[in-house]
Amino acid sequence: MRRPVMAGNWKMFKTQEETRDFFDAFEKLVAASTHCDIVICPPYTAIAAAKAASRGSQIHIGAQDLHWEKQGAFTGEVSPQMLTEAGCAYVIIGHSERRQFFGETDETVHRKVKAALEANLAPIVCVGELLAEREGGRTEAVLEQQFTGGFGALTPGQFSRIIIAYEPVWAIGTGRTATPEIAAEAHRFLRGLAAKRFSPEHAAAVRILYGGSVKPDNVKGLMAQVEIDGALVGGASLDAQSFASIVNF
Ligand code: PGA
Repeated sequence: MRRPVMAGNWKMFKTQEETRDFFDAFEKLVAASTHCDIVICPPYTAIAAAKAASRGSQIHIGAQDLHWEKQGAFTGEVSPQMLTEAGCAYVIIGHSERRQFFGETDETVHRKVKAALEANLAPIVCVGELLAEREGGRTEAVLEQQFTGGFGALTPGQFSRIIIAYEPVWAIGTGRTATPEIAAEAHRFLRGLAAKRFSPEHAAAVRILYGGSVKPDNVKGLMAQVEIDGALVGGASLDAQSFASIVNF
């Protein structure tokens, strides 16, 4: 049995004060939720505030990106070690917004995944096709390329420590969720790649989250698919009540 993960990706939203307000409300709503791992990924500037506000709860904190070096002359970047010190246990890597707007490639994803694992962070690695790629029948080719380039070179031991997030780009922030069947089909394909590259045991154990317009009213249908092990939630994770409803699907 794979333990579900419900992760909130706040993107560039929330100040420290807004973060504290969120946790005040959210913590109570999920205090009894022991059926899944709960992760909140605030912007860098609110990580310490989120960590402090979540102390004593079972809510984990994650970052939205990282650099692969421990330190150095990399203006604007944050290292894995800085994230663990600030209180992160997870980190999102290769989000489609980073791929589209900030030059993230499969090669940088690969370096970041390895660096995150070395620092004992659990990587949530995003893959997913653009609308044109789906419409052009290239979904599987794109997923295979992202899988191979991003984690194909990991050792089996390293692979067993990552979480994959399937996020079709056409479903992110658009209100257009993939149907549970479409999502499950992609998850099955990714699991097949894991079986081929690593082993059937690795494929059966890896947790694959769905992301893209997950809301309180569609989470149940998605989670009813055995292939779907949780959600990576953007917009609907910004509101305590709404993210709590998703966690408590
Ligand atoms: P969304 O974002 O839930 O707002 O579609 C998901 C994501 O980008 O991780």
